[in-house]
Amino acid sequence: MYQLINFKVHGDHAGNLVALEQGSDIDFDIRRIYYIWGTEKNAIRGRHAHHNLKQMIVCLAGQCDFTLDDGVKRETFHLCTPAQGLRIENFVWREFTEFSRDCIVMVLASEHYDATDYIKSYDEFLRIVRNGAD
Ligand code: TYD
Repeated sequence: MYQLINFKVHGDHAGNLVALEQGSDIDFDIRRIYYIWGTEKNAIRGRHAHHNLKQMIVCLAGQCDFTLDDGVKRETFHLCTPAQGLRIENFVWREFTEFSRDCIVMVLASEHYDATDYIKSYDEFLRIVRNGAD
């Protein structure tokens, strides 16, 4: 349902480079890329789940915390390197907190933006993961 992935880093005397290729590093078709920056330190982003969306989340600069909840357990990941990605499946509740001022988060997503795909109520999310979608 979610997984922290270590990317292959091509480091040399000049610095570091990560290449993400669809089909190998990214196991879904990338239909959308968005990024988040300038987030207030005390802001909480997310607080929703999706019916049909796969994502790879990469913290390109700075740091932040991603708390993920599959309806059974809740786990917080501290993202602080572009060398890792957080792969998230459908039906995972997410909350993003503790953004540093310089934090830039890039998200690769399997679908175009669809406001109707969001599950914004935690109770509704729990009902769906425990009983299945109607
Ligand atoms: P939202 O998904 O609520 O952000 P977060 O969960 O990180 O707090 O999106 C914030 C706003 O941006 C909302 O008005 C919808 C818009 N938006 C798009 O238009 N396209 C997108 O791909 C995304 C992710 C958001």
